[in-house]
Amino acid sequence: MTTPPVYDRIGQGYAARRRPDPRVAAHLVAALGDAGSVLNVGAGAGSYEPADRSVVALEPSPVMLRQRPPNAAPVIRGLAEALPVPNQWFDAALAVLSVHHWSDPERGLAELRRVSRRQIVLTWDPAVQSQYWFVRDYLPEWTLYEASKATLARIVAALPNARVVPVPVPRDCTDGFGCAYWCRPDAYLDPDVRASISVFALLGPEIVDPAIQRLAADLDSSGWHERNAELLELDEYDGGYRIVIAGR
Ligand SMILES: C[S@@+](CC[C@H](N)C(=O)[O-])C[C@H]1O[C@@H](n2cnc3c(N)ncnc32)[C@H](O)[C@@H]1O
Repeated sequence: MTTPPVYDRIGQGYAARRRPDPRVAAHLVAALGDAGSVLNVGAGAGSYEPADRSVVALEPSPVMLRQRPPNAAPVIRGLAEALPVPNQWFDAALAVLSVHHWSDPERGLAELRRVSRRQIVLTWDPAVQSQYWFVRDYLPEWTLYEASKATLARIVAALPNARVVPVPVPRDCTDGFGCAYWCRPDAYLDPDVRASISVFALLGPEIVDPAIQRLAADLDSSGWHERNAELLELDEYDGGYRIVIAGR
């Protein structure tokens, strides 16, 4: 690894805000099926590593590695694009909200295919995400930025026999990813909340701060509530998150 991993810069405090959500975890467990051995690629602080399987984690960022709990699965420091693993070694390879950060996603996804019989990837559909109120009304740059990244269509194209399962976001989601606060808009005003959502760090304050100021004004004036009142009735919301299940 010649350049420092991006998460060495943006991953501080990740584990505190990005606690795995049990309802999201249930979708991933269902996708893993009967896989007994799992390689978790882009494993970060260890979220969603099932305790009842034989798991090996892989992660490039020391800042993220240091946030893994003492009882987490054994971890290799490395990149998806060059997995130090023999062919077809694992029943399943798992990548949770990681592929959009890879410098060569197609190469990394080919590596997942090489080392595992089944591939499970949690990602999102930018077409659905673009309808999210934060993107639509405050930060269209969010989806524009991610259009250049590997999300649903590229992942489906790169994996064999891929099927796609929606993952709705619970209203009290404990994992603070991008759309987690769909019915808690005040949360986005908190810099610590924003710090654990990579798109905010990567877009930078000159783009994000004016959007946050507009949101704060709309929350003060009830403008947000007038536009989004129907959301407050929902138990879960489709923010575009999808699990791609591929292979055997
Ligand atoms: C949003 S975090 C997700 C972490 C964890 N999977 C989770 O659900 O909390 C994205 C992770 O992907 C890792 N990552 C970035 N580029 C990578 C690459 N080329 N290969 C493997 N992991 C990578 C980052 O270091 C970071 O830990």
